[in-house]
Amino acid sequence: MSCCLLCGGAIRPFLEFGPMPIANGFLRREGFASESRHDLSAGFCESCAMMQLLDPVPAGLMFHDRYPFFTSSSARMSEHFRRLAGTVLKRLSRDADPFVVEIGSNDGTMLQPFAEVGIRHLGVEPSGNVADAAEARGIATLRRFFDRHLAREIAHERGRADAILACNCFCHISDLGSLADGIDTLLKPDGVLVFEDPYAGDILRQSAYDQVYDEHVYYFSLASVSRWLDRSGLEVVDAQPQPVHGGSMRYTVARRGMRRIAPSVADLAAAESRSGLHRPEAYEAFRLRVEQSRDNLVQLLGDLAREGRRVVGYGATSKSTTVLNYCGITPDMIDFISDTTPEKQGLFSPGAHIPVRPHADFVADYPEFALLFAWNHSAEIMAKEEGFRQSGGRWIRYVPAVGVS
Ligand code: TMP
Ligand code: ZN
Repeated sequence: MSCCLLCGGAIRPFLEFGPMPIANGFLRREGFASESRHDLSAGFCESCAMMQLLDPVPAGLMFHDRYPFFTSSSARMSEHFRRLAGTVLKRLSRDADPFVVEIGSNDGTMLQPFAEVGIRHLGVEPSGNVADAAEARGIATLRRFFDRHLAREIAHERGRADAILACNCFCHISDLGSLADGIDTLLKPDGVLVFEDPYAGDILRQSAYDQVYDEHVYYFSLASVSRWLDRSGLEVVDAQPQPVHGGSMRYTVARRGMRRIAPSVADLAAAESRSGLHRPEAYEAFRLRVEQSRDNLVQLLGDLAREGRRVVGYGATSKSTTVLNYCGITPDMIDFISDTTPEKQGLFSPGAHIPVRPHADFVADYPEFALLFAWNHSAEIMAKEEGFRQSGGRWIRYVPAVGVS
């Protein structure tokens, strides 16, 4: 039995993936022998309703000067973040010299619309290379991890924030206590926090076990988020599902009593109660579906390999590291993984050591099958891969179930 990272309560693992490489640890052949592995298990804490990793990897091993993920690698995600920035921008009073902080600002995609109209902004981003990309486009960025200490420094030097934004970031931060203190310190009395992360309800519903990897320490629901924030005098005032990242939730948060609570909050709370998201049984049932999904994928890829069919992976996502290693997929089953990120090309996938090659290689010689690792970008990808279809190519998916189409 382990302890909940948040409340110290007892927690039982329901997914035990065993030793896994760093999800975004794409590497050269020379690195194979010294590749590190860490036990990856997820559990559920009944007292604070939080699904979480049991033994998080130290943050410095994941977020550093060679972090290979750039927000701008997806056109659709860039558009999504620009729209979110637009809705926040509309509500800021321009006379009052507003100040906007983004935590986990990556290459500055979401802060750009604020910078363009001259709004004071600050990105906080510990991975140096993506922070460089942000600064190159004129986004003020601190190369630091956000915590209660940094919040005090920012508030002292630049004043408190009217809006704090964070997308696909909070679920990466293991010390949620320090994070909530930091928000409390940095947010103006009438300020808002808007954050968005993959939603536990969607993960369970779609059996999307590949959302479980080292960077995702927490898998939030309204129930768990509300309990976490309550201790710092904060409350969720709106919750809106988002069709990105395989199903995310956008939470708008304010100091208790400062804003009207939208009906969406009670609606989502009721939906979560109905689906049992606050109960361990839902997570046990998820485990059984995950095991079935793994067995089906291994069977399918094994059959295709025996028939000598050519399969290429599509998108060297961090999620693919979980699938490849949990299912034991080997280089004889997948020729290479196609990815548009120059930083990943020419390297090998963590653990499974499947080569990552440029998208041009996929187009130059279409395979018979493409295994869609970047399923969360499916709409964007289907729109631009008509040629693959026309060549007779077929997609292999494993979310929400293993199938060929
Ligand atoms: P993500 O799932 O963490 O957003 O990572 C997506 C990865 O997939 C990233 O390495 C870029 C890659 N990708 C492609 O190769 N082609 C595409 O069309 C898209 C949208 C992403
Ligand atoms: Zn707990």
